[in-house]
Amino acid sequence: MNSKASAPGKIILFGEHFVVYGTKAILCAINKRITVSVEKTLENNILIDSSVGNLKSEPDKSLNEIDFQLRPFYFLADMMIKKYNPKFGLKIRVDSEIPLGVGLGSSSACCVAAAAAISGIFAKKSKDEILEIAIEAEKTIFPNTSGADCTVCTYGGLIKYDKKNGHSKILSKPNFHLAIANSKIKHSTKEVVSKVKQFKEKNEEKFSNLCKEESNIIEDVLICLKKNDLLEIGKNIMKNQEYLEAIGISNEKLQDMIKIANQSSFGAKITGAGGGGCIFALTDAENIQSTLKKLKEQNYDCFSAEIDYKGLDTF
Ligand code: MEV
Repeated sequence: MNSKASAPGKIILFGEHFVVYGTKAILCAINKRITVSVEKTLENNILIDSSVGNLKSEPDKSLNEIDFQLRPFYFLADMMIKKYNPKFGLKIRVDSEIPLGVGLGSSSACCVAAAAAISGIFAKKSKDEILEIAIEAEKTIFPNTSGADCTVCTYGGLIKYDKKNGHSKILSKPNFHLAIANSKIKHSTKEVVSKVKQFKEKNEEKFSNLCKEESNIIEDVLICLKKNDLLEIGKNIMKNQEYLEAIGISNEKLQDMIKIANQSSFGAKITGAGGGGCIFALTDAENIQSTLKKLKEQNYDCFSAEIDYKGLDTF
């Protein structure tokens, strides 16, 4: 028996970084997916075939011996092998529609799809159980994860999330389109999060005020989502971008993309850790094409995306 699962990428609409310190965040799954397929093999080892690298290894190795990007897959496979002690090995294949390492949730989507596909060889698990092991797997590459990204990749749609109360689904179905542009500057979430930690430690009061401002705009946005008030959500997106600039995770290229996208969308901001990665612009059916055109004219790599309501899917 083979096992296959796919999970969507995500954008953080509001609240990245501040969520690490307890503020609410709003996340949105997007219709670009990562698929993980798992087969049983005769040899008793773990094989990984992905665009970020390949691996053939025995189980029970220290994670330090495993290539950083492949650790979540190895961790999950090894965990299941230890639990079920099978007489076969596992071959894991990863296919992605999401550019990797640019703030669109590729790591989380990998962890969620891999948790479902690898565990699916052995037993049926609920989405809640999959999420729990996916977050464990994500911690092998990013120990301080808030868990927000894996949560939205598992359940799909729009969620609000905070570390203390966990997630809840946002039931409104706003009618927006997203223009996503990739700066092609690779970033490490772990490094950017630790840079923000240093900023916070040096500027406790400023950071705490920004967390309050962030909470205020999120409360406003939760009301606006019910009314599909894209104009007001867009204004809040621009405010959120100012807060991200204040904590030092923006740069010239990201700001240029945002300036261009702001000309025809409701508002644009960084999504995810920043320091590189992607920005998104909030648009509707009318201004999505003009926003993408303006970004393309300046040679920025961009594409449109919509909300994915499905979340984790298993085959
Ligand atoms: C990364 O996509 C989002 C951050 O807020 C980190 C996290 O929530 O774990 C920067």
